[in-house]
Amino acid sequence: MKFYIYTFGCQMNEHDSEYMASVLLEKGYSPAEKESQADIILVNTCCVREKVEHKIFTKLGRLLKLKKKNKGLIIGVTGCFAQLAGEEIKRRMPQLDFVLGTQQINRLPAVIDSLHSLLKEWDKMLKGDKQIKSFPCRFHRRSPVQAMVTIMEGCNNFCSYCIVPFVRGRERSRAAEEILREVKEAAVKGYKEVLLLGQNVNSYFDPSNNGTSFVNLLIKVHQIDGIERIRFVTSHPKDFAYKLVETVRDYPKICKHVHLPVQSGSNKILKLMGRKYSREEYLEKIEWLKREVPDIGISADIIVGFPDETENDFQQTIKLVEEVEYDGIYSFKYSPRPLTKACQYPDSVPEEVKGRRLMELQELQKRIQFRKNQSLVGKVFEILADGVSKKDPHALCGRSSNNKIVNFRGGPELMGKLLQVKIIRAGPNSLFGEKV
Ligand code: 5AD
Ligand code: SF4
Repeated sequence: MKFYIYTFGCQMNEHDSEYMASVLLEKGYSPAEKESQADIILVNTCCVREKVEHKIFTKLGRLLKLKKKNKGLIIGVTGCFAQLAGEEIKRRMPQLDFVLGTQQINRLPAVIDSLHSLLKEWDKMLKGDKQIKSFPCRFHRRSPVQAMVTIMEGCNNFCSYCIVPFVRGRERSRAAEEILREVKEAAVKGYKEVLLLGQNVNSYFDPSNNGTSFVNLLIKVHQIDGIERIRFVTSHPKDFAYKLVETVRDYPKICKHVHLPVQSGSNKILKLMGRKYSREEYLEKIEWLKREVPDIGISADIIVGFPDETENDFQQTIKLVEEVEYDGIYSFKYSPRPLTKACQYPDSVPEEVKGRRLMELQELQKRIQFRKNQSLVGKVFEILADGVSKKDPHALCGRSSNNKIVNFRGGPELMGKLLQVKIIRAGPNSLFGEKV
């Protein structure tokens, strides 16, 4: 029996897909190379932004046609969109075999068992588990180099635009002991890098030992032999503490990169978004980072066209981006999401204005990235080779500690190795270098 998994959305979702693959492996399934060879297809969904939903329904519609050829094919839908819109999915596509929301994903083993006994199961999912899910021992990871490790799930922040607290539930941290066990196992298997995952890692708090904060957890992970690099996402600016900046500065294995979503540069919009920090407080934290960790890479998420965003508000975002000089941004047009506070506000910024603002922001960011990347030509970086270059199948790619993507000539034997690479060319999105 073979499985195939489609993943939409963020790293948290990618990691959930790894969890689902591990459950299926444990149940005796093996991965299929193509969907046409699969006996079970899971579509792991996202609903953080509206556009993805259209893609998901299109994908499901196409997959359901496969059921006509292969009557035994099982198709299940999981993830945030399943949590949010289980009933609607069921109504529109009753041929699907099951739907499991994010907060019920730990029922996947039981659902798979019930499928074995040929029970078709529709699962409603709105009442979530308070517990963080437990992870299978033999964890199936998508990368041989970077191990993603969940440290917490859910979110209590309820930013006014965001559906995550509704679909992922309240914040819950995983016991530090369990996290450290998982990281140690990854190290034994040869993983060089760990990515610690949580919606808001800064508010990590070990439920079984009141002493362990996020900084303490980082220090404990740092002590694990074999792990050469530690990354973490996502930080919330309101909880981002000076102590963390010092920790990033002082511990060499902690990568010099911070993803600190700002969302807007206007205090009025930040307030409407319920972000609980001001532009000035955010910029102060950026100052700490730049002062203490001079080669720090900084990235952020930004939303344009939030209700009531005037041209002046938007220009505050532009000015902030010019001032911070991010190494990368993820930028989005605001879309109203059900259940959120902001979906009650009129979506007042016209679509074309959102589009123009997004373009202006992205063009500015491209210029900044190009300029910053150009200044790196001639420098040598330590790169962890983690894949084949997207630009050249004979080249590898990897990342610097501060998260720059670097392509360089090299064979597969270099995968997973830390290499010194001298930058010889720079584009806005990536660098090209030579091994030295
Ligand atoms: N509209 C647009 N972007 C959103 N994001 C979250 N919710 C919305 C929304 N309703 C963006 C935020 C967040 C990222 C994961 O997705 O920038 O940080
Ligand atoms: Fe959503 Fe805000 Fe929580 Fe991030 S911090 S997941 S934007 S509610």
